[in-house]
Amino acid sequence: MEVGVYYFSATGNTLAGLLMLKQALEELGHACELVPVEKACGLSGQHDLLGFASPVFYGQPAKVLTDFIRRLPRQEKPRPAFIALCSGVKGSALGSREILMDLLANKNIWVLAELAFVGEESHPLLRRLRYYTPGYGGDGRPDARDKAVMRCFAEKLIGLYGAFSSGKPTTLPYRSALKCLSLLGGSLMPLLNRSLFAKTVDVDKCTKCGLCALLCPVDAISLSEAGPVFHASCTGCLRCVNLCPEGAIGLRASEKLDRYNRRVPLLREAITLPTRR
Ligand SMILES: Cc1cc2nc3c(=O)[nH]c(=O)nc-3n(C[C@H](O)[C@H](O)[C@H](O)COP(=O)(O)O)c2cc1C
Repeated sequence: MEVGVYYFSATGNTLAGLLMLKQALEELGHACELVPVEKACGLSGQHDLLGFASPVFYGQPAKVLTDFIRRLPRQEKPRPAFIALCSGVKGSALGSREILMDLLANKNIWVLAELAFVGEESHPLLRRLRYYTPGYGGDGRPDARDKAVMRCFAEKLIGLYGAFSSGKPTTLPYRSALKCLSLLGGSLMPLLNRSLFAKTVDVDKCTKCGLCALLCPVDAISLSEAGPVFHASCTGCLRCVNLCPEGAIGLRASEKLDRYNRRVPLLREAITLPTRR
């Protein structure tokens, strides 16, 4: 079986989990390709099983991923898939899975399974929540604790793909109430993006290295003489805030809260940096 996972990862946690899943699938004798949606033009016909993976942002999957799915043509034959969602707090993926299931159903893509795992909280304000999350247990999820979960999920996928191929597909239950909650959460995003969570730049710290502009998944940052300029197309993923090596980009509401950049090398390796416009 060849698995192709189309993913978005703003700060590297979703990617770190997928790398564990890829390793588990390969150990079980199956190929797995991880494709960042920023780089993908469409789906490869080569993959037998598809994956769609995203962090959870205000109870919703990332817009970069949902836009990618919307642009896909309807597949001629039904194609099997799974969803992977990485949230900062366990259980807060809400109806993200239903949002993706709806979009994928329109493209004749059948969702067989969902993987939900916890990643380090990347929202500087929400990062406070980790101190109150039972069992959070430290920094840097996903980590060694998540490997067994990935292995189990890889085995489950192999079974489900086998059943799908022999004409006995199983699909996930659909939870419309949770989808409503997700839509409510996601509707806050544009408002928060423009107000409390508008970006700020500390010009004394900024070295104008341009990493923020290069890593922005939607090309919403350009560099001026004075430093980064943020455009309206920003989707609020906070990749720039968390990954600036100087900690020069902040949010209006949480300038003093902590942020992290430890997964920069992982992301740099996974994403061929685009040419700056
Ligand atoms: C704007 C924003 C909103 C977020 N909203 C949620 C949320 O509603 N629930 C949650 O559990 N985590 C939330 N998070 C945390 C991320 O889902 C989490 O940190 C995830 O590990 C990020 O994955 P990544 O490193 O692959 O981007 C949010 C993060 C950001 C930046």
